[in-house]
Amino acid sequence: MAVPEAVRGAPDWLPPGARAFDLVERTFLEHARLAGYERVRVPVLEHTELFARGVGASTDVVQKEMYTFVDQGGRSLTLRPEGTAGVVRAALQAGVPRSGGLPVKYAYAGEFFRHERPQAGRQRQFTQVGVEALGSDDPVLDAEVVLVGWEALRAAGVDDLVLRLNNLGDREDRAEYHAVLNAYLDRFDDLPPDVAGRRHLNPLRAFDSKAPGMRAIMADAPLLGDHIGPEAARHHAAVVELLRDQGLPLTHDPRLVRGLDYYTRTTFEYQVGALGAQNAVGGGGRYDGLAEELGWPERFPGVGWALGVDRTVLALRAAGAAAPTDARVAVYVVVADRGLVADAFAVATQLRRAGVATDLAFDGRSVRAQFKAADRSGASHAVVVGPDEAARGAVTVRDLRSGAQREIARDDAATALAAGS
Ligand code: HAM
Repeated sequence: MAVPEAVRGAPDWLPPGARAFDLVERTFLEHARLAGYERVRVPVLEHTELFARGVGASTDVVQKEMYTFVDQGGRSLTLRPEGTAGVVRAALQAGVPRSGGLPVKYAYAGEFFRHERPQAGRQRQFTQVGVEALGSDDPVLDAEVVLVGWEALRAAGVDDLVLRLNNLGDREDRAEYHAVLNAYLDRFDDLPPDVAGRRHLNPLRAFDSKAPGMRAIMADAPLLGDHIGPEAARHHAAVVELLRDQGLPLTHDPRLVRGLDYYTRTTFEYQVGALGAQNAVGGGGRYDGLAEELGWPERFPGVGWALGVDRTVLALRAAGAAAPTDARVAVYVVVADRGLVADAFAVATQLRRAGVATDLAFDGRSVRAQFKAADRSGASHAVVVGPDEAARGAVTVRDLRSGAQREIARDDAATALAAGS
């Protein structure tokens, strides 16, 4: 009987690759924390309606990529394809908009699911780290969000980074522009089905179409930038100025519409040159109408981003960045005599309780094989439990880099090694 394989597009991350993954995820979360974004945990499972209303009926995500099923209770549930709708739902359900102390600043990390055609950098299960700042219109918040994402990616080691920024205006601006764009699209009677089928839901999707000929058609299309109201224009100018003041290299991209319907005003994407087709390692923007779209009776604006952990690791690899080499453990316990296995186990436990990451050999390996395993583990020290030392209540500590060794009382080993000697 064959071993069942992983689901197509759902990657396994095992060591040592998983170390790079973990480091990237921690770096993103740490940068969010530095700016005051507090970790939240929201469910992977949501009612399908949340995404249908939140993410938008015109999007690829809702039209063809959701993992949706009917559960045993007859409810239609969906594995979350993105995080913003769920985080906003959770805040609304908890009454956050009326609780004072706005904005709230949240960070999250976890798995997301989209039934896309798998290829390099595009999976069906992937991990995002995201931030969402809820309850403020301040352009300083947009600038903060954009900057934190940029610095998080740089800190993770992504060098070849481009920030594309656009202003999608307010809903009212868009209503007028939709009419103008649809009138332009009316001039073409052979529009591809993906554009013809949804341009009346949201003609902006035409900018995302990969169908042959569409790029040329959209090159001459009227641009949203020419239909932005004065308030949204002022807001955007303030964001751009704040980011320029911080020395961020911005590329204005008037055709950047992003694949989700909830965006208003600021929208942006972090792209990496080395990645090819799937070159966006992260993206986000403002979504001032999302809460109302979900049924909240008042305005509750927000802004955020999500960075793709898998795709960032691929970008680092593609750029030839060295994989992290941090050791799995600091100390490896070597037992010189099978009769002393229980002693070795006790020493390992003592070290672990003192906060020293420790491993030991299993399956009765020879001393030579145990030292090999110690080297492979990356440990800086071996603690040898041998019969002579045991008789004296001692162990031998060997520095695995220099080979120097000394005998110390067994009870002092944890303190000595915790201090890094
Ligand atoms: P998104 O652009 O759909 O935005 O996804 C953000 C990032 O997640 C992408 O830039 C990419 O790195 C990663 N990603 C998306 N789909 C895949 C995939 N199929 N395989 C691998 N990586 C993927 C959002 O999800 C919004 N919720 C971001 C946001 C937060 N906007 C405001 N707040």
